[in-house]
Amino acid sequence: QKLQLNLEQIEKGGYDHFMLKEIYEQPLAIKDTYRGRLLVEEGIIKMAGIEDNMKRFLNADRIIIVACGTSWHAGLVAEYIFEDLARIPVEVEYASEFRYRNPVITEKDVVISISQSGETADTLAAIKLAKSKGAFVFGVCNVVGSSIARETDAGAYTHAGPEIGVASTKAFTTQITVLTLIALRLARAKGTMSSSDYRRQLIELELIPEKVKQALKADKHIQAIAELYKDSRNMLYLGRGYNFPVALEGALKLKEISYIHAEGYPAAEMKHGPIALIDENMPVIIIATKKGHYEKVVSNIQEIKARKGKIIGIVTEGDVSVRELADHVIEVPETLENLSPLLTTIPLQLLSYHIAVLLGKNVDQPRNLAKSVTVE
Ligand code: G6P
Repeated sequence: QKLQLNLEQIEKGGYDHFMLKEIYEQPLAIKDTYRGRLLVEEGIIKMAGIEDNMKRFLNADRIIIVACGTSWHAGLVAEYIFEDLARIPVEVEYASEFRYRNPVITEKDVVISISQSGETADTLAAIKLAKSKGAFVFGVCNVVGSSIARETDAGAYTHAGPEIGVASTKAFTTQITVLTLIALRLARAKGTMSSSDYRRQLIELELIPEKVKQALKADKHIQAIAELYKDSRNMLYLGRGYNFPVALEGALKLKEISYIHAEGYPAAEMKHGPIALIDENMPVIIIATKKGHYEKVVSNIQEIKARKGKIIGIVTEGDVSVRELADHVIEVPETLENLSPLLTTIPLQLLSYHIAVLLGKNVDQPRNLAKSVTVE
C-alpha cells in the first residue's frame, strides 16, 4: 500500500493531481505534437498521413468531423480553422448523433475522427459507418495503436503523452495543434493563403509553447479568483468566433470536476436567453481577446455589467477596456486569432481545477465519469 502510494506520488511528478501535471505539461506536449512536422526554416509542414492522401483531401467536397466530449470541442475549433484558412466546408458532429441518423455520406467525403483514447464506442461506430459508405476516414488520436487509430484509413497522432486525469486538458490543446497543422498544409496545397500569411502562421505556431508557459503564470491569481467564486451555483461562459468552442470547453471542465452547473454560449446568443439569468449571483467568464470581434464582446460585457453580473474577462496582455468593466481579468499573451484557443483555454482549465480542489472534489476521478467511454 505504502509503496503504491509512493509510486503514484512519483508519477504525479510533484504535482498534487494528474490534472494539474497535465495542464503544466502543455508547453512540452504542444512542442512534441509539432516536432518534426512544423519546419519553420524550410517553410513547410510535413505530415505523412496528409501527403500520402493529398488527393482525397483536395477532392473532398467537405470534411465531416466526428467526436465526443472535449474532442468534439476541438473539432469545433477545427471547423473555424479549416474554413477560414483552407476554405473547405466543415461539419462537426457528435459521433452518437451522426451514427444513428442515417447521414448522407459519399465517397467524396473526408471524415476526421478525433479521440484522445481512440476507444470511444460512439466515435468508433461512426467511423465504421462512414467507411461502409466509402468515405475516407482520417484519425486524430493520442493513444498509439488504439482501436480508432487502427480502424481509420490514415491519421496523425497528437503525441501528448499519457493523459490520466479524466477531465481532458493537454489532449485538447494538442488536438487543436494537429488540426491546425493539417489545415495549414491543405491551405498551402490549395493556395488559399498568401505565402506571407502562411509563414506568419508557422512562426506564430512555433511560439505557442512559450506563450502557454506565460499564460500558466496567472495560476496564483486564478486560484484567488476561484476562492471568490467556488460557492456559485451556476456559471456562464461566453466567447465568439474561435473562442466560442473554448467557452463550451471551459464550462464542460467546470461541470466535470466541480459539479457546478455551467453553460457555454456564443456571446451574441446571450440576448436570446441566458441574459435572463444574469444577476449579482451569476459569474460570467467571458473571453475577450484583442483579435476577433473585440468591440462586440466589450459591448456584451457592458450588457452583463448593467445587470450586475460578476465578470471575469480572459483578455490579451495589456488590455485596458475590459479591465475597466470587469471584476477580474486574466491575461494571456497576444497571438494570431486562429491560435488564440491554445492560450485562452489555459486559464479556464486552471479555474476549474482550483475550484474543484477548494471544494474538496476528486479532481482526477470525478464521480460518474470515465476516461474512456467504451459503451454507447
Ligand atoms: C469521456 C472523457 C472526456 C473525453 C470524452 C471523449 O467523456 O471523460 O474527457 O473528452 O470521453 O473521449 P475521447 O477519448 O474519444 O477523446
